[in-house]
Amino acid sequence: MKKAYIETYGCQMNVNDTEVIFAILEKAGYVRTEVMQEANLIMANTCSIRDNAEQRIWGRLEVFAQERKARPDTLVGIVGCMAERLKDKLLDTGKVDLVVGPDAYRSLPRLIAAITPDNPQIDVLLSRDETYADITPVRTDKNGISAFISIMRGCNNVCSYCVVPYTRGAERSRDAHSIVREACDVYQRGYKEVTLLGQNVDSYLWKSADECVNFAGLLARVAAIAPDLRVRFATSHPKDISDEVIETMAAYPNICKHIHLPVQSGSSRMLEKMRRKYDREWYLERVAKIRSIIPDCGLTTDVIAGFCSETEEDHKDTLSLMEEVGFDWAFMFAYSERPGTLAQRNYPDDVSPAEKNRRLNEIIALQNRKSLERYRAQIGKKLEVLVEGPSKRDPEQLCGRASNNMMCVFPALDRKPGTYATVEVVDSTSATLICK
Ligand code: SAH
Ligand code: SF4
Ligand code: F3S
Repeated sequence: MKKAYIETYGCQMNVNDTEVIFAILEKAGYVRTEVMQEANLIMANTCSIRDNAEQRIWGRLEVFAQERKARPDTLVGIVGCMAERLKDKLLDTGKVDLVVGPDAYRSLPRLIAAITPDNPQIDVLLSRDETYADITPVRTDKNGISAFISIMRGCNNVCSYCVVPYTRGAERSRDAHSIVREACDVYQRGYKEVTLLGQNVDSYLWKSADECVNFAGLLARVAAIAPDLRVRFATSHPKDISDEVIETMAAYPNICKHIHLPVQSGSSRMLEKMRRKYDREWYLERVAKIRSIIPDCGLTTDVIAGFCSETEEDHKDTLSLMEEVGFDWAFMFAYSERPGTLAQRNYPDDVSPAEKNRRLNEIIALQNRKSLERYRAQIGKKLEVLVEGPSKRDPEQLCGRASNNMMCVFPALDRKPGTYATVEVVDSTSATLICK
């Protein structure tokens, strides 16, 4: 039996892709291992979103190369977004036997069989229709409670800073029935939570001869599987999130009340330049709508500091938007120019690294303060949590998320992972609710 070892970088979609890859590799006679030193095939499923994501992978490639030197029969593969972006450049290093893009995983068995020391293999063709709908992923999560399900691939937006449309290709939605089947299947195997994944889930649209399913319709179908199966989703796009989606969330208690709604900037001038297709007012209106229909909805975001030509005033607009909305949590990044994107071709990357960092640090400091505020506002509330397992800090305690996605820790008593518990919030940090 041959063994495959895969390290996964980047977004949750990559986590799910790795699970699809394991399913495909099984057909080529591989089983999964978590120990690199015993693997016959070592791979990294990679991310190109920012330069530092790629730098990390170059570092890992050196480690893989050492391993291949020590055990010359070992194959090394780079798959995913960086494979798609850099193509032959990865083969030119002489350290890689296999380069496969996100839409070509079905060809892995054939490619692997064709590898010889002088013949590394590459397939980086993008597809208009590949969704791996018929492949049952080999779950790699640790606890058997929460599963990721990809509902679409690619992206049809052209946010000017973003490399994803180039590495993942055009948007396509997966057959709704195959999604519901996969969710039923994981539920029957004991899972209690599914997260539906896409770069822009609100534009999900699947049509057959007699059916047309949008994202709200899909959410309702998955939520109807079982009342004790929690449904989460990511990522929502502010320009596309519809009232129907928000109302569907409100209608089903098992659809978790959390929306990840990346804003990127609080300046309408920057948003236009980023080609986000909404402005500050539109974003604030969507937030108001969400909160009017689901008052206690968890809200998180992504922010980019120091995009091309960003002024101090634009930056202050971002701070004031974050102040006004009060996100529970945010992923915050300094702008990283990506080769081939609209921004790289059209706008100078003219905010200095020091200035980007200063702005990013202000954004982070503000968000930390807001997070603490938002978490402290939960004190005294009773929340239902899905028990995930022992808390990292204290094994006497359990942890689990509330519907709004906040992490809770609470005394273990006799509670078991995979069950629901009602807890009362007694204290908090800026990232954890302390409960009884
Ligand atoms: N599809 C999602 C985001 C996917 S990428 C959306 O549209 O919101 C995840 C996050 O990475 C983005 O929200 C953005 O904040 C960040 N990001 C993307 N490209 C970046 C770049 N070139 N530099 C810095 N951050 C970037
Ligand atoms: Fe990138 Fe924009 Fe697509 Fe998100 S919506 S993946 S930021 S192009
Ligand atoms: Fe990275 Fe590709 Fe996801 S660039 S964020 S792994 S879609």
